[in-house]
Amino acid sequence: MKEQLAKIKAEALAAFEAAADPAALDALRVKYLGKKGALTAVLKQMGKLSPEERPAMGQLANEVRAALESAIEEGGRRLAAAALEAKLKAEAVDVTVPGKTPVLGHKHPMYIALDEIKDIFVGMGFTVLDGPEVELTTYNFDKLNAGEGHPSRDWSDTFYFDKEERVMLRSQTSPMQVRAMETMPLPIRIIAPGRVYRKDEVDATHSPMFHQVEGMVIDKGVTMADLKGTLNAVVQGLYGEGTKTRFRPHHFPFTEPSCEMDVQCHKCGGVGCPTCKGEGWIELLGAGMIHPRVLEMAGIDPDVWSGWAFGFGLERTAMRRFRIDDLRLIFENDVRFLEQF
Ligand code: PHE
Repeated sequence: MKEQLAKIKAEALAAFEAAADPAALDALRVKYLGKKGALTAVLKQMGKLSPEERPAMGQLANEVRAALESAIEEGGRRLAAAALEAKLKAEAVDVTVPGKTPVLGHKHPMYIALDEIKDIFVGMGFTVLDGPEVELTTYNFDKLNAGEGHPSRDWSDTFYFDKEERVMLRSQTSPMQVRAMETMPLPIRIIAPGRVYRKDEVDATHSPMFHQVEGMVIDKGVTMADLKGTLNAVVQGLYGEGTKTRFRPHHFPFTEPSCEMDVQCHKCGGVGCPTCKGEGWIELLGAGMIHPRVLEMAGIDPDVWSGWAFGFGLERTAMRRFRIDDLRLIFENDVRFLEQF
């Protein structure tokens, strides 16, 4: 029996030492110390011993059990430490590896110009409005005094959604004049920037989608002088003090009188050069006093209230502001181009 116990002890200690993981160690614990384990099996034979032999053998058996238990405990600690070590190694971060710099985009020059424009108008008490690009023909044309048969309604110029010509991609931001008149309390001071769509082929100065900024003021006693004063202030803010403007008569169905405003060429200072096509001036926007019929259609009494409106192309304004010579650069979004501003 003594030999049996010694054999179990030696065998078990070697096995514990070799256990590769906690599960294997636990299986060995059951194998040697469990109810049906090897040690228990030997102890069951104690009854066969003489009463004199029993105490010594009992003590020996207890010593073996204690040795195995402490070896298991020790093995458990060893395996846990090894597992932690392996985990730390696997999850190690090499702080000396150079970082990956994320590629940042760049604010678009057109939006830089728009932010400047918004700042100027907000500083003068205007509210900035947003409006639908899919617009009702009623707002894009009818309520702007461009009724059935007006040339601007032609299929060759306009993206309609239906044969009845009720829904379209807005061709101008001017429908926002009407939407503002119908929803806002008087007096009104708004600008409404946004995308507009026309059936134009792409070239250096045209695109079927471009941006406009609409502006409108309605109040009592508003005149053309206010329009000129406001627009002159905006141009000075945008292109620098001393920038000259000129107003030419024009026609729009929803303003009367109507005008176009030119700015003196920034390249040649008005002498005439390729940029201004020898004119000395560059056309910037359309404007005018809101037609009394447009006010009436929106439910505003033209005998009490008057107003003016303007609309300009944002791409062209940004191109002039940053001296960009091809419209297509604005839409290509090449970061090498955008980063220059
Ligand atoms: N909507 C006109 C255009 O697209 C511009 C404009 C706006 C003219 C407001 C007068 C008043 O050409």
